[in-house]
Amino acid sequence: MKKLAVLLVFLSMMITLVGCGEPKNNEIVEQPNQEQEIIENGTKEVIENIEERQEVNTSSENVVENQEGVTPKEEQQETVETVSNDTETKIEEVTPEKTVIETPTNEKKNLIAFFSRADENYNVGTVDVGNTEIMAGFIKDYLGDKADTFKIDPVKAYPANYKECTEVATKELNDNARPEFKNVNSLDISKYDTIILGYPIWWGDVPMIINTFLEKYDFTGKNVYLFNTHEGSGNSGTYRSIKNKLSTANVNTDGLAITGKTAREESSRSTVNDWLKDLGL
Ligand SMILES: Cc1cc2nc3c(=O)[nH]c(=O)nc-3n(C[C@H](O)[C@H](O)[C@H](O)COP(=O)(O)O)c2cc1C
Repeated sequence: MKKLAVLLVFLSMMITLVGCGEPKNNEIVEQPNQEQEIIENGTKEVIENIEERQEVNTSSENVVENQEGVTPKEEQQETVETVSNDTETKIEEVTPEKTVIETPTNEKKNLIAFFSRADENYNVGTVDVGNTEIMAGFIKDYLGDKADTFKIDPVKAYPANYKECTEVATKELNDNARPEFKNVNSLDISKYDTIILGYPIWWGDVPMIINTFLEKYDFTGKNVYLFNTHEGSGNSGTYRSIKNKLSTANVNTDGLAITGKTAREESSRSTVNDWLKDLGL
């Protein structure tokens, strides 16, 4: 009996001990809660960190926005809108209909008209392109699309030989001749309000073919500018004499005279350009 009682006591002690070592049911459920709390706390920290950073960003944005010389966002938006409005306006401006309206339909061009003789000539030998024609080319290069060119081309060509040419020229002068030139009717001078006329000096005057040209067309109201090449005579009073002949035109006597040899040099291009610039052409 005594042994049985000892055994019972021992058994009850064992049960108690085992019961103390195992977790209670509610403690097992609470375990994940603790973990969740840690996770939640961690997430909270992360979120808080993000929020903090956002706050920092926001405040740095404020600093940028409040800095002097930096345009606040709202104003930036306005600027963008203004720019896009401008762009829209520009697009409207370049629509074909508007361009047609804005471009004057009666816009006049400049005409470069010149007489020049190639072949053998004084001081330059035999050349393919005459001295005055080279000057005319510089003028055309400067004016580009703003000018047309008309070469006064004699129906009867002058001799290629220099001496023979001087003899023909002497005869024309003595006869007060009016040598004909080609394509007289293809030139519509009414299209131009400015004529830039060029020629060489022959026997101290314009070649007689220039007189033919001046008498063929109506220069009334035209602005006339003059240029010439020579070998020592300058313009030889031809600017003045042309002004007298074209009494109904506005003849500018600040012409440009260059020796034939110099006209052939590339450096003459800037001389020509400066002259045109000074004239406002
Ligand atoms: C028939 C003739 C007459 C000339 N008379 C003169 C003159 O009186 N004074 C002068 O300085 N140059 C005179 N020259 C030289 C030319 O004016 C000069 O060579 C000019 O640059 C020629 O231009 P071109 O090549 O465009 O025809 C004469 C040339 C020729 C062919």
